[in-house]
This record gives sequence, structure tokens and C-alpha cells, in this order.
Amino acid sequence: MVAVCRTREELRLALPHDRTRAVVMTMGALHAGHAALIDAARRDVGPQGHVLLTIFVNPLQFGPGEDFDRYPRSEQADMALAREHGCDAIYLPSVTDVYGAAGPDAAGITVDPGPLGARWEGALRPGHFRGVLTVVLTLLHLTLAERAYYGEKDYQQLALIRSMARRFALPVRIIGVPTVRDHDGLALSSRNAYLDPAQRLQAAEIPRALFAARDAAAAGGDPGVVRGTAADILRHAGLIPDYLDLAGPDLGPAPEVGRARLIAAVPVGRTRLLDNLEVSLRGAA
Ligand code: PAJ
Repeated sequence: MVAVCRTREELRLALPHDRTRAVVMTMGALHAGHAALIDAARRDVGPQGHVLLTIFVNPLQFGPGEDFDRYPRSEQADMALAREHGCDAIYLPSVTDVYGAAGPDAAGITVDPGPLGARWEGALRPGHFRGVLTVVLTLLHLTLAERAYYGEKDYQQLALIRSMARRFALPVRIIGVPTVRDHDGLALSSRNAYLDPAQRLQAAEIPRALFAARDAAAAGGDPGVVRGTAADILRHAGLIPDYLDLAGPDLGPAPEVGRARLIAAVPVGRTRLLDNLEVSLRGAA
């Protein structure tokens, strides 16, 4: 039995005090990527633990003219997936339930994501990470989570949530889960539903570019060659990335040698797709 909670009060009553509480936060339109987070939570907390799924399309993280109104919503299918993957409870709140009567902009108090929040996605979507961190902090408090699971697919988001948890000494462990991909490598995303068949084919060039760059790094390529390998494949596919950058594993400056992260955002038609991959730089021979 899954407890379906639509208000804070219902959630409060559904949360156990004697079992490990894990949370998976989503905006719904669930797919196998979200399911992997639920499965990772269940693996960690065991059958005795409590796994809560939240489904909330957070208006505060969408800019004007973005897809808040047309964001895919599929409550019945989402509940079925949650049930199949053994969630104990689902929190499906209204905007007022999460933010109170004062609304999302309550007194203008929000979480400032700092300089990392102003780069890459943050530069293209001003206010986005302020909205993400504000809702994540609010939901962490409402859910009393001891463990919270986020996908590496949204790598900058994961890095910022980790930093926030450290900065505010939040009593929660933030756990990153590897990206789940489609048969041709495309990272699963609720927004893939916007792609038409031709765009869907073109989108597969994004992971192809990242994996080729990873191979170039393994073959001893320097950072310029690694990035260039991915850039060439995207260009041949007629794709122009919003950004394509090598950074450190925590999104600081890229190292000369060792683990780095290649991160990309690539518009395909009107849909922006995000992806990233770990690459291992071997340094000058
Ligand atoms: P959403 O895009 O619904 O994603 C919810 C969670 O699922 C995020 O942690 C995301 O990184 C993870 N996820 C999405 N696709 C994935 C994939 N292919 N493989 C692995 N994990 C994947 O991200 C958000 O919602 C929101 O910003 C949220 C954190 C819920 C705050 O509103």
C-alpha cells in the first residue's frame, strides 16, 4: 500500500519516526531514470526503510516563457510506477501546500545558489537554481529525509544541492545516482517527449559525442582534443551546443590529469537537452 499525501499534514502523519527516511524528488512524468533513484533508495534503506517520492512541478525554477504550463503531467502513470518500484508514500502537493499562502515568492526569501549557480545552466536560465535549491530545501524539511537521491544526469543541480547541504549543515546525506540511458545512449528525460522522430534521431548524437570524447581522453588526448572530439560530432550532426565544457568532478576548474566531467547542453529544435560524462584525462605523455 502506498500512502498518497496531498498536504503537509497528510505527509506528517505518513512519515515514520523509527525507520530510515529516504526521499526521491521529481517533477513527475516519471521514466526509468526516476525509477533508478527509487531503486537506489530502496537498496540502501532495505525493506524496513521508508521511501518517499515527491512529485511537484516547481513554478519557482521555471523562467518566463519556459515550459511550466506545458510540462508533461501524468499522475496516474506516475503513481503506478511508484507502486511498482515499492515506494511507501507519495507526496503530491499543491503550490500553496509547499510554499504557503504567500506563494512561491514568499517575502522574497530564497536560497542564493552562489557563483556555481550563475554558470552554465544558471547563465542560460537566470533564477533557475535559486528556484531548485529553494524547493529542495523546503522539501527536505517537509519530508524529514535522512537520505536524498538525485540523478547525475543533472550534474550541476546535484553539485549545487551537495554544496547547499554542506553549507547549511543539513542533517541529510545527498546521494548521486548514475544516468540511465535509452538503447542508443540518449539520457532519459521527461523532456524527450517533446522531440519528433527526426529530432529524436539527432538527439542520439549528443551521447555519441560525449562517449567519443571519453574515448579520446582514454587514448591520451589533452583537454582541447577531448572537447574538440565532442564538438566535431555535434557540428556534423547540425547541433550547436549552448555549452560544452570540461570541468573538475565538483565542477571546479578541470584538472590536467585525472577525473574530469564533460558537461553539455544542446538544443534540439526547441528542446534543450542536458548530458554529461566522466572522462579520465591521462595528461602529457
Ligand atoms: P526531474 O527533472 O523530474 O528529475 C528528478 C530527479 O531524477 C533528478 O534528481 C534528476 O537528476 C533525476 N533524473 C532525471 N533523469 C534521469 C536519468 N536519465 N538518469 C538518472 N536520474 C535522472 O530535477 C528535477 O526534477 C527538479 O529540479 C527537482 C530536483 C525535483 C526540484 O524541483
